[in-house]
Amino acid sequence: MAEQLGGLTRTHTCGALRLDDVDREVVLLGWVHRVRDLGGVLFIDVRDRGGVTQVVFDVADDDAMMAKAKRLRSEFVVGIEGRVRRRSAETVNPKLETGDVEVVVSRLTVLNEAKTPPFPVAEDSPVSEDVRLRYRYIDLRRPRLQSNIGLRHRVMMVMRRYFDDNGFWEIETPILTKSTPEGARDYLVPSRVHPGEFFALPQSPQLFKQILMISGMDRYVQICRCFRDEDLRADRQPEFTQVDIEMAFARPETIFDLIEPLMKDVFRVIGKEITTPFLRMSYAEAMAVYGSDKPDLRCGMPIQDMREVFRDCPFRVFKEIIAGGGTVRGFVVPDAGGYSRSEVDGIVDEAKALGATGLVWARRAEDGTITSSVMKALGEESIRAALDAAGVVNGGILLMAAGEPDATSKLLGQIRLSLAKRKGMLNPEDYRFLWVVDFPLLDWDPEEKRFVAMHHPFTSPVDEDLAVMATEPGKARAKAYDLVLNGSEVGGGSIRIHDAALQSRIFELLNISEDEAKKRFGFFVEALEHGTPPHGGLALGLDRLVAILANENSIREVIAFPKTATAVDLMSGAPSEVDPRQLRELHIATRT
Ligand code: AMO
Repeated sequence: MAEQLGGLTRTHTCGALRLDDVDREVVLLGWVHRVRDLGGVLFIDVRDRGGVTQVVFDVADDDAMMAKAKRLRSEFVVGIEGRVRRRSAETVNPKLETGDVEVVVSRLTVLNEAKTPPFPVAEDSPVSEDVRLRYRYIDLRRPRLQSNIGLRHRVMMVMRRYFDDNGFWEIETPILTKSTPEGARDYLVPSRVHPGEFFALPQSPQLFKQILMISGMDRYVQICRCFRDEDLRADRQPEFTQVDIEMAFARPETIFDLIEPLMKDVFRVIGKEITTPFLRMSYAEAMAVYGSDKPDLRCGMPIQDMREVFRDCPFRVFKEIIAGGGTVRGFVVPDAGGYSRSEVDGIVDEAKALGATGLVWARRAEDGTITSSVMKALGEESIRAALDAAGVVNGGILLMAAGEPDATSKLLGQIRLSLAKRKGMLNPEDYRFLWVVDFPLLDWDPEEKRFVAMHHPFTSPVDEDLAVMATEPGKARAKAYDLVLNGSEVGGGSIRIHDAALQSRIFELLNISEDEAKKRFGFFVEALEHGTPPHGGLALGLDRLVAILANENSIREVIAFPKTATAVDLMSGAPSEVDPRQLRELHIATRT
């Protein structure tokens, strides 16, 4: 049998050749990207990860070679030996980096044939995502994913270099481990040698990285896979990648000062200069002004408190809600002169679909005329006062809702975002970072009638709020922070509890009994008592960050082998049934 590479050694990638290489004898190895048969002359584009090069069979008199070339089909794997030639002026292709030259073939080797691909690699034609995921190896050959996966690699390299320069060690933590409480369900792995016992795949390396601080490792980083069995969305995968960080002797500012320059480096990978320091906003402000703990700041339109205008207004609904401790809030859509009446009604319908009892609008037309959905009930005077108070100029619309403060802001926040998306107000190349800080320590779970940790149970309360923890635990704030970019939570972290007694108090508040705490995190609580330095950290969601850098809406576009929205790998068919013998060995019986 012939040597597998036909004796060929690649001299250049398919993206390398330039005018300087003219007359050079070269060997290209790659895939047939496109075939153009002009009768006497046959062109093929040969592709590899580096790019595409045009190759010419200019050998009408060489019947054997021509016959072989004519059998080439898309995605055949070929070896091309030939000489580089300058293209004539009219055939130069400015869209290709190699577009000034072509290779005149002296010998063609077919290294492998290929079935007709399920969808073309050479064209960016729309293909259903299921088909793309089923044939991911073909999809990964297309320019979009080649570029995204390359970008992801470069981002990881920049990060690793940055952390190394800053004294961080990359330390691997176990994949077969004990459940960590990040709030999702665990993926479990049965133990063969310990019947009835299970490992959990890590939802994050949280406890291990804290233990590494106790171990004196000082600065830890790990680009690691995390596993969470939770409902999936465009920005969630059951396994995803975190850039996980922990530092001894850190304050929140220590973490901010570490991450901001890192983001600068990362954005330089796509040629963007971002501004630091990032804005900081309390959770309370983010919720009130944007109705979200991950506000998208690209579209402005902050939500305003309109109570003062309506406290004594003739509109009973507003007046009564305010008197009852509720609120009236609204935001201004500027430059909305062109919105038709039915478009505005559409926004009201959307609000109702979101569960609102109503959405009120008032507008100032380009000529200054005032109209409103509650003109009769409120009267022009009140409406004018509201428009003035909210700063609505001609062409603007004020959208208002009334009710319980949090719910009202949440509703308006949703409307604000969907409007901004629909109207193209979210420029993907405008990068608005912010730190959301001062999260509540606890969240009340009305179903379970108990407090749960808003971040995780190892998060330190704010020093000033230690007292309030005893009296009104729901009011205590945490030293927790999220990094938000364009409405996406790209990172989250906190300063941790380093004091064993405080950790026990938090378990108590969370209704985690001493016994349960011992069973679940006894090893950790014990470690806390052995000289724990104050410490803190954060984890970045690498997939989300790269998706934003690549201007993709879904993280599936930046993961080589992602799962579907129903947590299935369409290519390998995982999850799948296993051999009954395997189950017996694992002491597992299944119920169907
Ligand atoms: P958290 O749960 O906030 O924090 O996760 C950190 C970041 O990981 C990303 N992320 C996800 N990305 C894709 N798919 C998912 N299912 C998914 N879940 C989370 C988000 C998020 O901001 N141990 C803490 C970190 C710490 O306190 O240091 C933790 O895991 O971008």
